[in-house]
Parts: sequence; structure tokens; C-alpha cells
Amino acid sequence: MPSFDPNRFVLEHDQAPPKEILRAAYQAFGELTLSFSGAEDVVLIDLALKVAPKEAVHVFALDTGRLHPETYAFIERVRDHYDIAIDVRFPDPKAVQALVKEKGLFSFYRDGHQECCGIRKVAPLRERLKGLPVWVTGQRRDQSPGTRSSLQIAEHDHAFGTEATPLIKVNPLTHWSSEEVWTYIRMFDVPYNPLHERGFVSIGCEPCTRPTLPGQHEREGRWWWEDQGGKECGLHATKAPSPAATPQ
Ligand code: ADX
Ligand code: SF4
Repeated sequence: MPSFDPNRFVLEHDQAPPKEILRAAYQAFGELTLSFSGAEDVVLIDLALKVAPKEAVHVFALDTGRLHPETYAFIERVRDHYDIAIDVRFPDPKAVQALVKEKGLFSFYRDGHQECCGIRKVAPLRERLKGLPVWVTGQRRDQSPGTRSSLQIAEHDHAFGTEATPLIKVNPLTHWSSEEVWTYIRMFDVPYNPLHERGFVSIGCEPCTRPTLPGQHEREGRWWWEDQGGKECGLHATKAPSPAATPQ
């Protein structure tokens, strides 16, 4: 395959609707691998299945072991609704056991979420992305003014790709607002996680997610005991980690 230039893709498709961005990505790569968190990013699955054959759409979810029961039920509902396989990935049990043995089940409230997210989300993600040419995510700029305001519809992922196997991250919902996502969900009768009916906007793991009040930003419901600025868990760092931080 000729090398893919994300800057050119952005120039050509930045103003296109998500469906056309997905169509162009499928034309460029011949496959689409989507990460699905069990939340409103279900719209990506709905859209991808409209532009690519089912066999070319691969969906995976990272089961941290700490998701809400509603999210597990929802992942299963999405599997049935679209009649697709969902590749559910689990963390390394030895790493989880060691963390829990040393620090207990709620260490993130004391010393931050990075360590637990590193074991339960980032390491399984690294494994799932190994050797992949393209990864489609449901990130949007409006999800986090602090960390996602310069998100692009396509970018090199130097955190998970390597020089030998470059990884392109495609973010078709970059320019969509939450309102546009929900208009789509209602218009096309897309199934949604019932937690959204109970005030949850951004949904992650159960102990690290809470409903938000009117006027609060959705990100305030995630890792609320930490600084507002750094609310990322490591899935969406696109820069390569410094050598000292690279897992051996
Ligand atoms: S997070 O980094 O803060 O947890 P967020 O919840 O905003 O991410 O979701 C953004 C995108 O990250 C989702 O659309 C999805 O592509 C991916 N993602 C987040 N959590 C998961 C998960 N548990 N399994 C698979 N993909 C996920
Ligand atoms: Fe652990 Fe919370 Fe991160 Fe989930 S969101 S992996 S429970 S720190």
C-alpha cells in the first residue's frame, strides 16, 4: 500500500461529514478497526457499516474489569443489534493482581488513575493495535477543551505505531458536537447505553465516572478528584513516550 499522508487526508476531507471520512478511510486502507467504549461512540459502528462491508469492519472493546453492568449489557446489545463480533480485550491478570495486591482495588483515588489505566486499558490496547495500519476512534474536540481541542480527523499515532509499522489514527467525529451525535442516534434509532438516561454523559469505568450536573462539562464526570487539565488515560497520546517511559 502506498504510504498514507494524514495531512493530505485532512486537507481533502476535513469538512466532510463523518460518514464520508469513514468511506475515504475505508477506500485508503481496505479495512476499518474501531475501538468501542460502550458509550455514544456506537454511532461510529453504525456509520462504518454503511460504508464498508461487515467483513472489513473490526470492532474491539477494552474490558477493564471495572465497567458498569449497564455497559457490559450494552456491548452485548450492540453485538446483537448489528450482528457483529466484538473483540473484547482483557488486561494481563498478573499485572492486575500485582497492582491490587500492593495497593488495593481503589489506588487511583489516592495516587491517580495513570497506573491502573496503564494496566487495564493502555497495555491491552497496545497489544490489540500491534501491526495495524489504521485505528478509528470516537474522539471529538468538544469532549475535552483541555486535551482534544487540536484533534485532527487523521493523524500519525507515534505512541502505538512504530517506524516499521506506522499507525494512522482516524477520528471521524472530530468536528461533531455532542448534540450532533445525539441527533444521529435519535434519527437512526441507534441503540444507546441506558446510563445516558441517568445523567452520565462521558462514560468510562464505574469507579471513575459519575453523572454531571446541568452546566458542567462532560469531562468533569471523569476522574473528578484530579486536576481538570490532565484527564486522559493514555489511550490517546499520539506522541511517542519518552524512552524511560516505554514499557519493556
Ligand atoms: S478515555 O481515554 O477518556 O477513556 P473516551 O471515553 O473519551 O476515552 O473515549 C474516546 C474514544 O476512546 C472512544 O470513542 C473509543 O474509541 C476509545 N475508548 C475509550 N475507552 C475505551 C474502551 N474501554 N474500549 C475501547 N475503546 C475505548
Ligand atoms: Fe482503572 Fe479508573 Fe482507569 Fe478504569 S478508569 S482503568 S478503574 S483508573
